[in-house]
Amino acid sequence: MAKNASQTSRQNVKSTLGINKSKVREEGLATTADVLGRKIKNFPEPPKITEGGTARVISVVNQKGGVGKTTTAINLGAALAETGRRVLLIDFDSQASMTTGLGIKGAALREQYGSIWYLLNDNEARLEDFILKSSVPGLDFIRGHEDLAAAEAAFVSEIAKEHKLRKLLAPVLDRYDVVLIDCSPSLGTLTVNALTASNGVIIPMECEYFAVLGLSLVKKTIQKIQENTNPELAIYGILATMFEKKTGHSREVLELIDKEFPNEIFDTIISRTVRFSESNVAGQPVTVYASSSTGSAAYRRLARELITRGGSK
Ligand SMILES: Nc1ncnc2c1ncn2[C@@H]1O[C@H](COP(=O)(O)OP(=O)(O)O)[C@@H](O)[C@H]1O
Ligand SMILES: [Mg+2]
Repeated sequence: MAKNASQTSRQNVKSTLGINKSKVREEGLATTADVLGRKIKNFPEPPKITEGGTARVISVVNQKGGVGKTTTAINLGAALAETGRRVLLIDFDSQASMTTGLGIKGAALREQYGSIWYLLNDNEARLEDFILKSSVPGLDFIRGHEDLAAAEAAFVSEIAKEHKLRKLLAPVLDRYDVVLIDCSPSLGTLTVNALTASNGVIIPMECEYFAVLGLSLVKKTIQKIQENTNPELAIYGILATMFEKKTGHSREVLELIDKEFPNEIFDTIISRTVRFSESNVAGQPVTVYASSSTGSAAYRRLARELITRGGSK
């Protein structure tokens, strides 16, 4: 009798674990909890947004290039738009890879008129006149331009230069639920502008050891912004990207981030997959280019996690 009861209870435990595990596997996703052997988390479908109000502004930031900032801004934006959120993306990097990733190429990409650089330079220009629609309903954007690289020098002598982007954005905030700013790989004037305009930041981090070392620099910059131009600035989360399940190194790096920043690390992990590069070439978010891929599932899960954490409406 006792044996039966314990068997049954063990079976229950097993089957409960089985269901949870298979739910994660079903999506094919690595998660922080799964990789570190903790209780698996689930994030519910977000409620529909009913009230208006002003947008939450989020900078996607890391002074290191090639860590997945642009990929995160585009695909998190697209995933949030799928939940009915009204999303505005700002291409704030002179490489303009977000603009390319949303399908603008060639001569059109070199056009300065209407880019964020143009808006920063023309005091008469209103940001709302230059909002472009992406192929995803509810996902709008402001284009970037390579001349943005000159901004650091151009801003040097300007008064209140840190507040330029915040002022440009202010009139459109009640039209959106979320604004995502794709930052350049530096912590200069442009990024200071982005952080000054933001409620919070998301820090994508490639699962490489050297990337972890760079994290403290990002955190120092955030602290400086909090002390000087934006005391409310919050860290919404650190996102592990380009994770490789098969290598022990990715797991070690994840353990390290979790140890140093236990409250900040997202449970959602973005694995390495060629789908992201392919979707860039196609000029579409991965959620459109390969809607049922694990890459899409991961960014949809990140959108749910961000909303659950209160980082997005
Ligand atoms: N999870 C990923 N797996 C594989 N490739 C990725 C992933 N995330 C981004 N990439 C690719 O890596 C390159 C750099 O990513 P990107 O988002 O542009 O980084 P950043 O904006 O930080 O410079 C791009 O070619 C992109 O397609
Ligand atoms: Mg980028």
